[in-house]
Amino acid sequence: MPAGGDDDPRFGFLSAADYATARALLTAAGYAEKAIFEMVGLSADSLPRDGGALLALGEAERGSSLETLILLFLIGAPVEADRARQALQPMDAGEWAEAGLIAVEGNLVRGLVRLVPFRGLWLAHDRPEQKQRADFVMGVGSSTVRLMDVAIRRPVRAMLDLGSGCGTQGLFAARHSDRVVATDTNPRAVQFTHFNAQINDLRKVETIGGDLLEPVADRKFDLVLSNPPFVISPDRRYIYRDGGLPGDGFCRRLIREVPAVLEEGGYCQILCNWAHQRREAWQDRLSGWFEGTGCDAWVMRTETEEVAAYATTWIRQTEPDDPARLGETYERWLEYYDRQGIESISTGIITMRRSSGRSNWIRIDEIPPRILGPCGDDIELGFALRDFLETVGDEAGLLEIRPRVSPVARLHQRLAPAAGVWESEEMELRREQGLAAAARVDQYVAGLVGRCDGRRTLRDLIHELAVALGRDPNEVAGPMLAIVRRLIEQAILLPEGVFG
Ligand SMILES: C[S@@+](CC[C@H](N)C(=O)[O-])C[C@H]1O[C@@H](n2cnc3c(N)ncnc32)[C@H](O)[C@@H]1O
Repeated sequence: MPAGGDDDPRFGFLSAADYATARALLTAAGYAEKAIFEMVGLSADSLPRDGGALLALGEAERGSSLETLILLFLIGAPVEADRARQALQPMDAGEWAEAGLIAVEGNLVRGLVRLVPFRGLWLAHDRPEQKQRADFVMGVGSSTVRLMDVAIRRPVRAMLDLGSGCGTQGLFAARHSDRVVATDTNPRAVQFTHFNAQINDLRKVETIGGDLLEPVADRKFDLVLSNPPFVISPDRRYIYRDGGLPGDGFCRRLIREVPAVLEEGGYCQILCNWAHQRREAWQDRLSGWFEGTGCDAWVMRTETEEVAAYATTWIRQTEPDDPARLGETYERWLEYYDRQGIESISTGIITMRRSSGRSNWIRIDEIPPRILGPCGDDIELGFALRDFLETVGDEAGLLEIRPRVSPVARLHQRLAPAAGVWESEEMELRREQGLAAAARVDQYVAGLVGRCDGRRTLRDLIHELAVALGRDPNEVAGPMLAIVRRLIEQAILLPEGVFG
């Protein structure tokens, strides 16, 4: 049994030298995303389990170590023992069996874990056949990737991956962190994270078992990343999914407790689900979660689902395809939501920054329509811009700034034919990378933004516009400044001294 937990057989190799040899043999075989893609035309994570993708391999690739490793650790098909031995040379297949990575059954060898090359890491985790285990350890899911893409990637001294699973967040963050601590309440997850840190030669990653912040209560971090068990349901079945507190209590508790381990100025980013309660504005309820935390907070909502759709999505992921059982689970979940007064559930990304000793701000909005690549820098920029808006004060202060349009902003215009000419139907300012904020504007706002070159004050620009329109500048200033505020918040306009 792979990675069995505290009392179960050992998981992992015995020595650093064994890990080094294993790493060398994986590298020599080309067991990496690029080589796998070139060989089978699919990403390592999307290979069909029937091995169909391997049928089209050419003569030279057949029987190669790379093909054998793909069969064992991605597809999960049995492989003849001689072939497996050859692929695992110079190590003894017995060492891989004792490490809990393969099972030798007569003349056949089977992979007991998935070992997935992902963004330059090898990540061992449970095979899908283990999905019914309460202590199932997941691999890279869509929530994993979402958190990786929004994570703030500035160099830090200490990083915490809370609820590490197989360790993806912490191992990736090791690239910009002096030290990483990965914690998980599931002992099997701790074992997988430890294994993955060793196989990737990331000795700066420390793994600790335990509940929430209890294992690190006496430490401080500059960055905390957590993709927690956020699903809201009556079930307490899977450690990776069910946080064990009523409603959205797990995420709330995490948000309330995490500031205690954050360095001043340190960031915490959490993927979160929250409940929309009957007779309660969800924004009010959510902002209450941050009160007294000593943190500024930015909530980006990604989606909201009615409870029926939410339940269906999650139940389908875990329940076997048995209509009676699916129906019973669905009814139970919906009764629970009804009892709790939950009508719909939102998903979002929460970023908190410890800023004690002053009043804190909370920003709650929708995630921009597109995320174009990693956007941690844009989130940090969003904090700087909101700080700026908090300190610039009233209209008078804002009128004196000399903004410039972001170099990654573009004006998109849609034209429609009208009486023999093209007429502007819609104009939108968009950031074209990272957190790709977008704002509908009219020709006057577009014109003003275009003239923001960092040299002229808003007062001058608004005055010029008002004169062109034959209007009183004092009348134009109020509405225009409200729009400018929003464009600054979206990093489409940048005040002097704040770059992006
Ligand atoms: C959704 S998985 C995320 C795994 C991984 N971090 C990722 O991004 O793919 C949630 C993880 O939180 C862990 N977990 C659940 N309850 C916990 C608790 N009370 N304290 C710490 N970790 C917990 C689970 O074991 C699981 O590994």
